Amino acid sequence: MSSDSQLHNKASGWSARFAEPMSELVKRYTASVDFDKRLALFDIQGSLAHAEMLAAQGIISTQDRADIERGMAQIRAEIEAGQFQWQLDLEDVHLNIEARLTALVGMAGKRLHTGRSRNDQVATDIRLWLCNEIDAILALLRALRLVLLDLAEPNAATILPGFTHLQVAQPVTFGHHLLAYFEMFGRDAQRLVDCRKRVNQLPLGAASLAGTSYPIDRERVARTLGFDGVCRNSLDAVSDRDFAIEFCAAAALVMTHVSRFSEELVLWMSPRVGFIDIADRFCTGSSIMPQKKNPDVPELARGKTGRVNGDLMSLLTLMKGQPLAYNKDNQEDKEPLFDAADTVSDTLRIFAEMVAGITVKPEAMRAAALQGYATATDLADYLVKKGMAFRDAHEAVAHAVRYCVGKGCDLADLSLAELREATGLGAQAELIGADITQVLTLEGSAAARSHIGGTAPETVKKAIKAARSELG
Ligand code: ARG
Repeated sequence: MSSDSQLHNKASGWSARFAEPMSELVKRYTASVDFDKRLALFDIQGSLAHAEMLAAQGIISTQDRADIERGMAQIRAEIEAGQFQWQLDLEDVHLNIEARLTALVGMAGKRLHTGRSRNDQVATDIRLWLCNEIDAILALLRALRLVLLDLAEPNAATILPGFTHLQVAQPVTFGHHLLAYFEMFGRDAQRLVDCRKRVNQLPLGAASLAGTSYPIDRERVARTLGFDGVCRNSLDAVSDRDFAIEFCAAAALVMTHVSRFSEELVLWMSPRVGFIDIADRFCTGSSIMPQKKNPDVPELARGKTGRVNGDLMSLLTLMKGQPLAYNKDNQEDKEPLFDAADTVSDTLRIFAEMVAGITVKPEAMRAAALQGYATATDLADYLVKKGMAFRDAHEAVAHAVRYCVGKGCDLADLSLAELREATGLGAQAELIGADITQVLTLEGSAAARSHIGGTAPETVKKAIKAARSELG
């Protein structure tokens, strides 16, 4: 069946090919206009480029092209004004716009679909839309990364406990901690830039699946629409949605990073930890407990990660069993794709605002870092630098920590004599000199890690500077 040629008759039952009209239930089941009308302006953009090429190639007249442009300008105005009458009977965004065009300009409207199918048309629309979304998300990622730098800068030397296994491990600077997220979101941006290259290829010209017998100029259409190139195989062009899957995978990773950050924000804001406060406008109260201030935004963001993972699973599953070329299954690509893009955009926008409004509580961070023997590794490293093997040093410090646990104090609280004694090293404990005091401080520990990628305040300041010039 040449599916698209008879579609204007769909309301009356697919014309001569069908003996009875489509049932109402099937009509609702197969229609996509309720959600794909979102692609309308890209659909018009694609049609205008197609018409321009058809006229340039002498496939339609320049008068037809002018009529199409006039009609499309009006349709665009109607859509933007919210006055366009979307009809479920016309199934999708493409047929709605084409039918309206024909109503407005007559024969030229009927000629627009020459050498084209909804199969290459929809793939073109989605790709145009997605490039636009990717650009917007990249701008949002950049904004969030700038906000992270703005918070990292005054906190380059603010010390908090670094955790492994959620147990106090070693002191780190808060600026350094924030820069970890700066890196994650930076890789997310790189992934999207890379994905965009594969999205930005033109399917139009593939027609239904086999190409078209008209003398079309696909490269011209690609240039007009700003595509980097044309899809090289017509069957592939109309059928694969790997570009959408790839986007959703990148989106899922953005949300994974947002989710990890959210988990930390929730933890840091818990009164038991109290490292930060999140501005009231991002929190909600409880309907029953008057004292509550809940970090709903990070919790929701953590939860919405599940949606985007779900969107990715939907598209992977949608694609996996499809034979070449186009199948109606692909109509199901839109809602998950839209949802992933919307969720990531909204989340990034709100995160940039929320992170900018974080209040840091350095005293609470410092107090927490002072508990849990965060500088024990520094004592071991000190002994190694004095000539001891690391494993022996590790053991000696373990003895000293155990002693402190029994006494209920920190390593730094011991006098030099007591510390030497506590290591159980006997005469070898003489290796520990008075200079150990500085080594066991939080500041000494952080400052000692001044290599590239380390947590030292000076290193963090340099990293922030480099990051700012990277963002330009
Ligand atoms: N609404 C359809 C979609 O989203 C457009 C393509 C329909 N093509 C067809 N042969 N039925 O995929």
